[in-house]
Amino acid sequence: MEKIETFVGGMIILFSAVVSYFLMRRDKREGKQKSAKLPLPPGSMGWPYIGESLQLYSQDPNLFFFSKQKRYGEIFKTHILGCACVMLTSPEAARFVLVTKAHLFKPTYPKCKENLIGPSALFFHQGEYHLRLRKLVQCSLSPDSIRNIVQGIEDIVASILDSWAAQKDTVINTFDEMKKLSFDVGILSIFGQLEAHYKEKLKKNYCIVTKGYNSFPTMIPGTTYKNAFLARKRLSKILSEIISERKEKKLGGKDLLGSLLNSKDEKGEILTDDQIADNMIGVLFAAQDTTASIMTWTLKYLHDDPKLLELVKAEQKAVYELNNGGTRPLSWSQTRNHMPTTNKVVLESLRMASIISFTFREAVADVEYKGYLIPKGWKVMPLFRNIHHNPEFFKDPQKFDPSRFEVAPKPNTFVPFGSGLHACPGNELAKLEILVMIHHLVTKFRWEVVGSQSGIQYGPFPIPLHGLPARFWKESSS
Ligand code: HEM
Repeated sequence: MEKIETFVGGMIILFSAVVSYFLMRRDKREGKQKSAKLPLPPGSMGWPYIGESLQLYSQDPNLFFFSKQKRYGEIFKTHILGCACVMLTSPEAARFVLVTKAHLFKPTYPKCKENLIGPSALFFHQGEYHLRLRKLVQCSLSPDSIRNIVQGIEDIVASILDSWAAQKDTVINTFDEMKKLSFDVGILSIFGQLEAHYKEKLKKNYCIVTKGYNSFPTMIPGTTYKNAFLARKRLSKILSEIISERKEKKLGGKDLLGSLLNSKDEKGEILTDDQIADNMIGVLFAAQDTTASIMTWTLKYLHDDPKLLELVKAEQKAVYELNNGGTRPLSWSQTRNHMPTTNKVVLESLRMASIISFTFREAVADVEYKGYLIPKGWKVMPLFRNIHHNPEFFKDPQKFDPSRFEVAPKPNTFVPFGSGLHACPGNELAKLEILVMIHHLVTKFRWEVVGSQSGIQYGPFPIPLHGLPARFWKESSS
């Protein structure tokens, strides 16, 4: 009897497999026939080989995106740096690529960049490995975890602001200084307290890596890329020393390194040292320039609007007094509940500056969107800045107006941290860091921007021209 049941069961499975195989082939064939009939999105592919790269890079790239949107609408094709691309400018289209049909669009980065960060970093992956790493990173950057490092962030902020004020008569490059701040906060969230000699070594080599990230990728000795490649190797060595020390001392830790070290998959496998190192570098990389850029913009926006600055100052002074003239540390709940105006300033800075103007994916199959074909292998770029600067969603979009956030934005129209499976897990830490920086800055310091006050520079994120040269001093000594 058992044998007959097994035989019948086997036949059913075989039959289903054969039917599914033919159905799949039919779907594929019909899909192919259907997609062969679909038109490509409107737009121009430019010149042979170079496409529209010159048009894009000879002007502010955002002007290129906006003029195309005006001409063609929410979806258009182009050809940039050897890649056929489809650009998308509407909230629905961005959601389609990043959320609802995310499985049809994979992350895509040039190999030369992957090698500098580390190929096992989560943002290069999809599927099980990505999910496993993402859970770990997300957990160590969740509100529950970062509420414990508010004081650590305050110490870093206080020390860096003091260092600016100590050189009162020197003009500093605000963006470069903000990068020091976001680097130290990144290190704190990844390692907790890290010995100074390790931090110095990491900083030195990491700096060389970031310089090479956007340079021409060649392995000729002495070039910026090759130097970055060598510095990345040294970083692996330093990180593996830190990892061994933690393992030896059996130090757990609620920081990211602790979570990565403790992680086991369902088969009980732990992560390799390379996987751990690539993800630590990846997080640092994702955290540093982004947060530094937004902090620099926020300072500029506040500087340009004295009335708003006074409102923010009053709000922060109230918290300062509540903390006994700043002698008690800031609490997580104060950053959440006692800083409504400052929180809106942060959101509006994220919208206005839209420092991640767009992201990239690659279509893994032919995909239909609103009657157009997005061919397999084409790059797909949701343009976040176009969404944030569309007057349909944000009235008078060029105006810096934090009060617009008194009402929640329409769904999917505010995506400074992306959306879907790869959305930024560091968004709460970034916002916390900016709030702590503003709190200390406006309650104890004053600053003036030096020289030309307008203009944007790309490096590659947009920052105020020349990194916002400025002078800082302690309020009492003004
Ligand atoms: C204002 C600052 C920041 C902005 C605007 C920002 C923005 C973004 C965006 C738009 C993405 C999604 C990219 C995509 O879908 O292709 C992203 C991903 C990511 N961000 Fe951030 N980020 C910021 C700060 C941070 C910080 C502070 C950390 C960590 C401490 C961080 C860690 C990451 C990581 C690890 C990913 C990749 C997630 C994944 O692939 O699953 N970011 N970020």
